[in-house]
Amino acid sequence: MDILPITDTARSLGSSSLRVFPLAYGCWRFAGTDVRHAREKIESALEAGMTLFDHADIYGGNGAAEELFGKVLAEVPHLRDAMVVATKCGIIPGVPYDSSPAHIARAVEGSLRRLHVDVIDLYQIHRPDWLAHPEEVATALSQLRTQGKIREVGVSNFTAAQFEALQHYLPFPIATHQPELSAWWLEPLRDGVIDQCTRRRVTPLAWSPLAGGKLGLTSDAAKRETNGERLSTLIECLDRIAAPQNASRSATALAFLLAHPVGIVPIIGTQRVERIRDSLEAFHVRLTRTDWYAIVQASMGKKLP
Ligand SMILES: NC(=O)c1ccc[n+]([C@@H]2O[C@H](COP(=O)([O-])OP(=O)(O)OC[C@H]3O[C@@H](n4cnc5c(N)ncnc54)[C@H](OP(=O)(O)O)[C@@H]3O)[C@@H](O)[C@H]2O)c1
Repeated sequence: MDILPITDTARSLGSSSLRVFPLAYGCWRFAGTDVRHAREKIESALEAGMTLFDHADIYGGNGAAEELFGKVLAEVPHLRDAMVVATKCGIIPGVPYDSSPAHIARAVEGSLRRLHVDVIDLYQIHRPDWLAHPEEVATALSQLRTQGKIREVGVSNFTAAQFEALQHYLPFPIATHQPELSAWWLEPLRDGVIDQCTRRRVTPLAWSPLAGGKLGLTSDAAKRETNGERLSTLIECLDRIAAPQNASRSATALAFLLAHPVGIVPIIGTQRVERIRDSLEAFHVRLTRTDWYAIVQASMGKKLP
């Protein structure tokens, strides 16, 4: 049986000139340590080959993740040269969403300052704001691009239709779409987001590719989670595929995403240096078409017709 192609070759973000390693490092859980440990994680990700670092202004609360990252860049400025720095705006706890032009303009200044960078390579709208007309969002983003404050634009947690509405008013293509996507959360494969990425040559960035750690649970612990029987069946399926090739379950779950032909970039979220390195094992996992669909069916809890 043919093995699905999985490559560690750098890929473009959409049709932009930004190129990234196919695994990215996510900074949601990054805050709360000293600068030394933060630097160790960034350097480990870079040494592993990762180039895209994903932030949001709310990570860590009040920009704490961006600020810690910026302290590392202030200490070792040359690290910036190897990076594609991504961040997001638009979530304000208690509001909860604001993508008005005034807020976007304020938010970008805060992120630039905290991250200690002159330009944000990929600026993403974190969640759709129903009260912001896509035309005004597009105008705000275009202005930031013209001013050289951001390079490319992405969206996160948008429906395919919300993506189209924003794209309609933008004079340049959206580079990335960041949905939740993992062996456990397959919705973007069904709701049109991944098809849209394929058709428009947009790069999907998969958030929580290990389901936020659920895919690391023991089968027994998984049974205690919501939809536990199905989660534990998925875990057992991943283990069955991983074991004969001495692969880890998490590498197999990342390989599942990397094997999709659209070119998904999983954003890993571990805060452990050894797990950052181990994620590279994903490029050595061999998955057949049957394995891939076995994971889908275990995740769905039913056979495909
Ligand atoms: N756009 C959005 O709305 C959105 C939402 C959520 C996340 N994100 C992005 O996605 C990134 C990744 O999200 P995530 O952190 O949820 O990703 P994840 O990689 O699915 O989960 C990371 C969690 O799983 C644990 N873990 C990793 N490997 C494990 C293993 N082998 N066994 C047991 N536990 C394991 C980690 O613990 P350790 O640290 O102990 O390894 C960590 O708590 C974020 O940093 C952020 O950039 C975006």
